[in-house]
Formats: sequence, structure tokens, C-alpha cells
Amino acid sequence: MRPYLNFSESTQGMSIGDSSIDSVTIKECLQLVSTPCYITSLNAVSQRIKAYRASTSRHFKKSVIHYAVKANFAPEVLTEVIESGGGLDIVSPGELRASQRALCPPDLVCYAGVGKKPKDLEEALHYGVGKINVEHIIELNATLEMIRDINANAINSARCATQILIRWNPCLEIETHPHLRTGALDSKFGILDSEIIAYLIAKKNTLSEEDFETFVRPLVGIHVHLGSQVQNAIVYKILCEKLVEFAGRLVDLGVQLNCFDLGGGLGVGELGVPNDASDIDAHVDFVCVKLKKSLKNSLHDNVKYQNIWGENLQHVCVALEPGRSVVASSSVFVTEVLYTKSNSENNCFVYVDGGMNDFPRPSIYSAKHELIGMASAAPISSLSDSGGLDFWNATTAVRCAVVGPVCESADVLAKDVLLPRLVSGAHICFFEAGAYCKSMASHYNLRPLPAEVFVKDGKIQSWRQQVWP
Ligand code: LLP
Repeated sequence: MRPYLNFSESTQGMSIGDSSIDSVTIKECLQLVSTPCYITSLNAVSQRIKAYRASTSRHFKKSVIHYAVKANFAPEVLTEVIESGGGLDIVSPGELRASQRALCPPDLVCYAGVGKKPKDLEEALHYGVGKINVEHIIELNATLEMIRDINANAINSARCATQILIRWNPCLEIETHPHLRTGALDSKFGILDSEIIAYLIAKKNTLSEEDFETFVRPLVGIHVHLGSQVQNAIVYKILCEKLVEFAGRLVDLGVQLNCFDLGGGLGVGELGVPNDASDIDAHVDFVCVKLKKSLKNSLHDNVKYQNIWGENLQHVCVALEPGRSVVASSSVFVTEVLYTKSNSENNCFVYVDGGMNDFPRPSIYSAKHELIGMASAAPISSLSDSGGLDFWNATTAVRCAVVGPVCESADVLAKDVLLPRLVSGAHICFFEAGAYCKSMASHYNLRPLPAEVFVKDGKIQSWRQQVWP
């Protein structure tokens, strides 16, 4: 498990000099930056993007992987994604600028996200993003009008090539943390099919046939994202049936629709991702086979659909937007142990120098991240031996909580974990720290953002010190 990470199974006996990421030891990294810090293998990122691309293109001639920048927006990660053939899924003007700085080809940028302002849409159209996923009828109308106006004035300049996809709410519940569900009726995301149909009928009734066609021409696809940390793909069977049925209704209304963006969502378990990316293959195979089956059933005997999708679906374009499953297992979060404390047998604490502001998922989502305690090569001192209650002894591990320095009782990075005595100066590394960890870190308590180290091909490629507010 966890490509490019080498933390031996003899967890507790391990030191920061033995454990490594892409052959670079944690100790070498800590000679450059101080804790708390994130260490990331860029080869692990690349391997996952390539796996997504290979699996998807086995099923569809036209496909694109838009990596969800929100999961981890480090410039090094974005560059690695682009060099591995991926595009970027962005949700804000800030992420648009990050994609520009990373030199992502504009046509490989997909601008999604709820609550875009008109000026955000203008900036994205001006930059020439490949796709905009609209989240509201007002946004759909505004974007189509902007494109119509750009094209009306495009006598000497290029016509707008941006494609529009509708973020559709399929009203499907999935099993995941309630905060990570986005495709059910009670969701703020997406547009209901009835609203989209009503909008198109109203446009049809007010525009000439030619003007309607010109106006809706940029609208080429449907986007759907059920939620994050999806552990069971079976829901995609129902999704694909509903999706293709809905797509057919839009085609019947005159929309030349052949692009299907199925979002992200593939979950990562507590043991991380497998070395051979077989989880990606299995997920993409399942989803693509279901989509192909639904499309084929639908185009059978329907010449209109055959013309738009191609008899062998050769005109269909499929997009995916994975975030977590690309980057989660590529990074570890390294903290240093400050001291321990025992209030009672059931209340033992290990204090580390990283807090909920640096590593927020446990406090926000009650997320469990596997961790490993590592003796430092040369323990500095043993403050935990300073007297009072102490349930650790030389041989036994103790059930304890790992807590940080933030002034909040919620500042707990791990609960109920079995750890041996870790003296001051030892380290605790948390796994699956590549997704939604550093990207959600904050300056709460006016703490600095954690340091970062990026390794590639057995070498440290770059690093950033802590960033103070
Ligand atoms: N596409 C859309 C429209 C999304 O909203 C998201 C994630 C993705 C793609 C990528 O999903 P993924 O493959 O990463 O599951 N902070 C939370 C996760 C929030 C996900 C937000 N949207 C966490 O730490 O678990």
C-alpha cells in the first residue's frame, strides 16, 4: 500500500532515519524544514494521474482527467499533474490564477463551483478555459449571453471556444459523511432536471430556431458529482441510467450534448491506496462500463442520438474530476512530540507541535488518519518522565489521544490510538495527508502554515518553510 512510501511494519521501533518517501528519509527532510510539515512524493501523484488517464481512455476515445485543485493546490503538485497529462478542475478565481501560474493549457481547465460571480465568469472566458460547469440557471443564462456577445464582436478576434456543462442534481443519496454528499435533493449544488428543461423550453419559445441553436450551441454536456469519499461504486449504475435518460431529453430539445463529466469522489480507506493503482482501474472500469451500456441502450434505433454520440460512441467525451484519490496517499504530515500527560487511565495525551489549523480533517469530519510514532535518532529529553500520573511504561503501549497546541478542545488529531511512550523529540507521522489537509490549513491562533517538502526520483525537489501570518 501507498506507492513510494516506505514505513516499515515494525512501526514503533522505527526512526525518522529508516522511514522514507521515494527513497528520501524523513530525517533528511527535517534537516531542511521544521515540524509540523508535509512531505509529498510527486511520483506518487504522477502515477495516479497516469492511471486515471489510461483507464478512462481504454473505454472512451475522447476523455479528460481534470484534477480537483482544491484537494492540494501546491504548485509542485499542479505541475506534476499537468506534466502527467491531466487538466485542472478549479472552483474559484484564486484557483484559476494557480492554474495559470502552473502553465496549464487553458483548454484543459474546467471551471466548476457554486456561486460564481459575473466577473469570475468573464475572467474565465477571457482566459479561454476549456469548460465551465454552471451551477444555477442564472449562471447558465449569464454565461451563454456572455459567449453570444463575445462571438457577436469576434469579427477579427477568435470566437469563444469554451464549452458549457450543466451541473445536474440527480437526487441520489450516497453513503458518506453528511458534509461530503452533494447529489441529493437537499444539496445546494446543481440544478434539478425540471428547471433545466423549463429554461430550455422558455428559450425555445422566445428565440427563433436559428437564434436558439446559436445561443445554446456552447452547451455541450452534463456534469454530476455525487460527493466525496465514495466507497461503493454501485450507485453509478443508477446514476448512469438516469444521466443518459436526462441527456436524451436535452438532445430531443435541440441541445448537441455529447460530453459527460462524472465528477470525482473515489474514496481512500484508512490503509491508503494500493501500489498498483488497481483501485482506480476498478472504479473507472465500473463507471465507464455502466455509462457505455446506458448510452448504447439509448442510441439503439435512434438516429438522432447515433449522429450526436456516434454509433460506437466515438463522439462522446467523458471527463472525471478526481481529487482525493490522486493525492491523499502521496503525503505524510510530520509532527514532533512535545510531551505526554495522563489524567487517568482513560485520559492519556500525547502533545505534538501540529494542530487542527495545520491538519484539520480529524476535527472537522472526525476523520481517522493512520499514524506512526517514530523515535527520534537521539531523544532530546524525556519530559514525560517528570512525575505525576503516568500510565506508560517501557514495554506497554497506551490508548491515548494525540493533541495539538491550538486553544480548542477540538484540537485532537487522533483519538483512541495505541502508542508507546514517545519522549520529547520523537515524531508522529500521519498518513493520507495529501488531500484536503494542507489545502484546508489556516492561520487560526495566528499560527504559521506548515512547511512543505516535495520529493521526486529519489531527491528533494523543493521545499517551503512555514509561512507566518
Ligand atoms: N468535483 C467536484 C464538483 C467537487 O465538489 C469535488 C470535491 C471533487 C470533484 C473532488 O472530489 P474527490 O475526488 O476529492 O472526492 N474537504 C473534504 C472533501 C470536500 C470535497 C469537496 N468537493 C474532506 O476533507 O474530506
